Amino acid sequence: MLDLIHSSIPLQPVSLNTLLPNSLDLSSNQGQSFSPDQFDAVVMGTYGRFPLTLTRGQGCYVWDDQDRRYLDFVAGIATCTLGHAHPAMVEAVTQQIQTLHHVSNLYYVPEQGALAHWLVQHSCGDRVFFCNSGAEANEAAIKLARKYAHTQRGITYPIILTARASFHGRTLATITATGQPKYQKNFDPLMPGFAYVTYNDIADLEATLADLDRDQPQVAAIMLEALQGEGGVCPGDRAYFQRVRQLCDEKGILLILDEVQVGMGRTGSLWGYENLGIEPDIFTSAKGLGGGIPIGAMICKAHCDVFAPGDHASTFGGNPFACKVGLTVCQTLVSENLLANVQARGEQLRAGLERLVQQYPTHLTEVRGWGLINGLVLRAESTLKAADLVRAAMDQGLLLVPAGPQVVRFVPPLTVSADEIQQALLAMEKALTSLALT
Ligand SMILES: Cc1ncc(COP(=O)(O)O)c(C=O)c1O
Repeated sequence: MLDLIHSSIPLQPVSLNTLLPNSLDLSSNQGQSFSPDQFDAVVMGTYGRFPLTLTRGQGCYVWDDQDRRYLDFVAGIATCTLGHAHPAMVEAVTQQIQTLHHVSNLYYVPEQGALAHWLVQHSCGDRVFFCNSGAEANEAAIKLARKYAHTQRGITYPIILTARASFHGRTLATITATGQPKYQKNFDPLMPGFAYVTYNDIADLEATLADLDRDQPQVAAIMLEALQGEGGVCPGDRAYFQRVRQLCDEKGILLILDEVQVGMGRTGSLWGYENLGIEPDIFTSAKGLGGGIPIGAMICKAHCDVFAPGDHASTFGGNPFACKVGLTVCQTLVSENLLANVQARGEQLRAGLERLVQQYPTHLTEVRGWGLINGLVLRAESTLKAADLVRAAMDQGLLLVPAGPQVVRFVPPLTVSADEIQQALLAMEKALTSLALT
């Protein structure tokens, strides 16, 4: 199984240049060129990388070290909300680095307060904790849910239910939360206090809850993605999530939604949960929140804000620089009316991809997704794999990312234009033709 970002399987070797490591000139920061061998000699091999070196970007385009242009429908994996070198981001970054970029959370940070206010005003949440990544935001949510269970419900061994095929990050707690054994292999002992249910399957959830809470309440929280991204772009079922919310209310269980990949407008609503007609008690954001500058946030309703000073912290969390950029991303989403763009461009993309499914029924089966997170699903019995199609698209100047072995994911910047969607569809058509599928 080839999962590029989350795999340690090296992809095909690359041959960009053959300088020996000791001939590298590190005295200048201009135009450094690293061959893959030099790179791999010093960077841990935790990623399977494509043979591509990207050196600059503008809008929805990126350029490689040979000055070849690509349409970027990866966007740092659903992260570059405003594309590359957006003027608002350039201005925010420049202004904030010249003013004050980092201070400790020993003091009040105005930019942190401003971003927290924006998030609270534009969501169901009341309080925000800032950190630096999605995994960290989920760690914070797990800790909050455990403390709530201990202090508010008297649960001594809290269990958090998560879904099979989910993805919540790479720390020890979040690989345990991630319901996919391939991410857990060789990292035992895993974190105690997690159990798994099948996504969108209410009967399985009800049976698991009945089993775990048979003698005494143990289930502290249910943690789900509104749409499973890494798990293959699988949207949540509305009726399922409404029943989950009902069960949580009946039993005092907290509902945590991981909005790391789908939040910040990617689905055409600001938050993924809006597509499901429910509100979580806790939700997490990262990726798109900073538009490519590292930031994470855990947001909760007032009733479960049980953290006290000293319970949780992060040196970089909520620093002026990251928060200024995050606030700029949020404000630009509104000022450029990007949710409407996400909805219109998403429909255009899905319609085009569905035409391709009709053209290649032996290999392609369906298009799944919301807004600008969409998956082109390959037939299980096809010899074509997602990574093959991603490579063929790259040859046509289009960057895509697999979501598992059978799904090709399209997550362009939310600023993508109708013309760029059209170009991407043409590149897909050419990529499929180039594979000479039978
Ligand atoms: C739903 C979800 N949660 C958490 C994460 C982890 O985020 P990060 O890589 O920023 O730690 C990801 C990353 O792909 C994600 O898609």
